[in-house]
Amino acid sequence: MAEVAKYRRILLKLSGEVFADAEHSISPPVISSIASQLADVIELGVQIGVVVGGGNILRGKAAEDAGMDRSSADDIGMLATVINALALQDACEKRGVQTRVQSAISMQEICEPYIRHRAIRHLEKGRLVIFAAGLGAPYFSTDTAAAQRALEVSAEAILKGTKVDGVYDRDPQVCAEAVRLPLLSYLDVLSRGLRVMDATAISLCMDHQLPIIVFKLLEEGNIRRVVTGEPIGTVVHETGGRVPSH
Ligand code: GTP
Repeated sequence: MAEVAKYRRILLKLSGEVFADAEHSISPPVISSIASQLADVIELGVQIGVVVGGGNILRGKAAEDAGMDRSSADDIGMLATVINALALQDACEKRGVQTRVQSAISMQEICEPYIRHRAIRHLEKGRLVIFAAGLGAPYFSTDTAAAQRALEVSAEAILKGTKVDGVYDRDPQVCAEAVRLPLLSYLDVLSRGLRVMDATAISLCMDHQLPIIVFKLLEEGNIRRVVTGEPIGTVVHETGGRVPSH
């Protein structure tokens, strides 16, 4: 029987770090593998918006800590997301996925400006839409941009692709007994300071009951597993399971 997608429209948040490998800040093989997962899910009929981060090139907070003015650092970080967006667009189009990049900062020579209705129209036509340059303003993370764009285009869930396979009660790299938490509430995330997305993004999702699914991105087929409802990763939603205390 053909697989049926659980979601009609999703917003995938990719942190900049997933674009890098040990030697390159932008790794063509890694981006190509992400594009192949996206092509596979688009074939299922799922509409996909992507918000990309820029941390593989520059992190606003880290640059601020190193002495740079925070607004300038965030401006550079937003430009970094455009670089990642264009790299992902190239890889997706090579796989036959029609892709549009929309930037929150106008740079019309290389991509479209962000226009909500136009983005929705692209999605309806089965095009992948990559939202670049965050929200076009400093002091907002790309996590917050992901929540904002997801709400604006009426996505049914945010898929947060990371390097780990979900949210753990403790750091799994430090503590062997760390347990993956399959279900969490927004309040669990906020009150326990679990690093799913920043507090502004979580609050936006909580206020509008937008579920967040945290999962390991670079495992072939994982985006498809999430959209077809396989219980991988961690789902952050309205009620959530109980977080064990220690
Ligand atoms: P439809 O009108 O729904 O067919 O969408 P479309 O995006 O295919 O049509 P359009 O003619 O608007 O765009 C054609 C191509 O130009 C697409 O690849 C767009 O991404 C690109 N494009 C549109 N507007 C801009 C822009 O402001 N800047 C840049 N660089 N490209 C643009």
